[in-house]
Amino acid sequence: MDRIRITGGQRLKGTIPISGAKNAALPLMIASLLTSDRLTLKNVPNLADVNLLARILRNHGVDHSVDGKRANADPHLLGETFHFTARDIVDTTAPYEMVSRMRASFWVLGPLLARAGEARVSLPGGCAIGTRPVDLHLLGLKALGAEIDIDAGYVVAKAPKGGLRGARVVMPKVSVGATHNVLMAASLARGETVIENAAREPEVADVAQCLMKMGAKIDGIGTSTLRIEGRDRLEGATHHVLPDRIETGTYAFAIAATGGDVVLEGARKELLETALDTLQQTGATVEETAEGVRIARNGNAIEPVSIETQPFPGFPTDLQAQLMALMTRAKGTSVIRETIFENRFMHVQELARLGADIRLHGDSATIRGVGTLRGAPVMATDLRASVSLVIAGLMADGETMINRVYHLDRGFERLEEKLSRCGAHIERLTG
Ligand code: UD1
Repeated sequence: MDRIRITGGQRLKGTIPISGAKNAALPLMIASLLTSDRLTLKNVPNLADVNLLARILRNHGVDHSVDGKRANADPHLLGETFHFTARDIVDTTAPYEMVSRMRASFWVLGPLLARAGEARVSLPGGCAIGTRPVDLHLLGLKALGAEIDIDAGYVVAKAPKGGLRGARVVMPKVSVGATHNVLMAASLARGETVIENAAREPEVADVAQCLMKMGAKIDGIGTSTLRIEGRDRLEGATHHVLPDRIETGTYAFAIAATGGDVVLEGARKELLETALDTLQQTGATVEETAEGVRIARNGNAIEPVSIETQPFPGFPTDLQAQLMALMTRAKGTSVIRETIFENRFMHVQELARLGADIRLHGDSATIRGVGTLRGAPVMATDLRASVSLVIAGLMADGETMINRVYHLDRGFERLEEKLSRCGAHIERLTG
């Protein structure tokens, strides 16, 4: 099993190219189920989750091919171009072995139901960061007329005669996944669907833009009320995946943690204003440039900041662990409250192994900045938690060995390569 070895204490300097967003690429790939034509996605990150989802989609009848391989002069700027074609849906069952490995694959439910009239999708099951139910997905699809039963751990859904029909869906809670699911299904439903209290995350807007190119009519993109006029059939399209705001924020926090000066190439500041404002309050410089976003911190102390996670445009839960890593060295005490997921504090015990002083109380963590962290062996527990250990390792004196890095590979493309190009002492040990 691969491990990552970091020797901390190096300032970061240079350029880091930002990849296409994983959380947009996955639902965009799933949108290929909605049409028998070809859907071309550019700037798809090369990640374990993308490859796994491509395999899952193949079971349903989606063929894919990849071009734009990284053979050119500066491979770092090239995301891959994938072509997906679901000429026929050959299987409407998404088995437990697949869905349990990647939760987002549950989102095939709406598109399969809309296109094939039925779907049998395994419930995702337990998850390391809380119970993560799917009630909101089911509520939305039921509103569109689906008949839904739970049978032996599977959601068994059937569309009414004549297909799904537009409806008003009021989400009792903001959910990214449920918004994706209902939005995709509504694009192929008869009549108008209105989703109220929809997620406003930029990745939802990116999927909506792609669905528009495929022929759906959608108003209110980027707001909490989406109006979708469905079509009998959707067409093929070509879509460029937007840059990954979580990867952007992760490197931004890493640079603030180590000190240095780095341009995050291709990053878009407006996708993560709240996180970058928070970063500025810690004493880092954040500047929009022609190439992307420049982050710098030179010598000044890390100021403590307190935040709570919120749906977009608030502070993202997917950057909570990274901010906590930075706060372990702040000049004072900060409080971080996690309001989106329960149990999303698994990084706390691991950060403590490096000498961090963190107290947990309910959904909040109080972090007292310490003078130094010391390298130690640690364990990656989930995607975002693992990358917080990378940040802490970069700040720590001596060697940090991160075990179980497959979590990182699910969401960060060539992390050690991007960081070592900026001067970090980080390497992957395979086997
Ligand atoms: C997506 C992101 C994930 C991010 C999260 C919140 C992807 C692939 N994943 O996950 O990185 O951390 O948004 O920004 O895009 N909930 C319910 N019932 C439901 C669905 C969700 O109660 O039917 C709850 C969840 O338990 C959680 C909250 O709603 O407390 C938000 O979850 P949701 O936005 O659905 O997260 P995901 O779409 O799974």
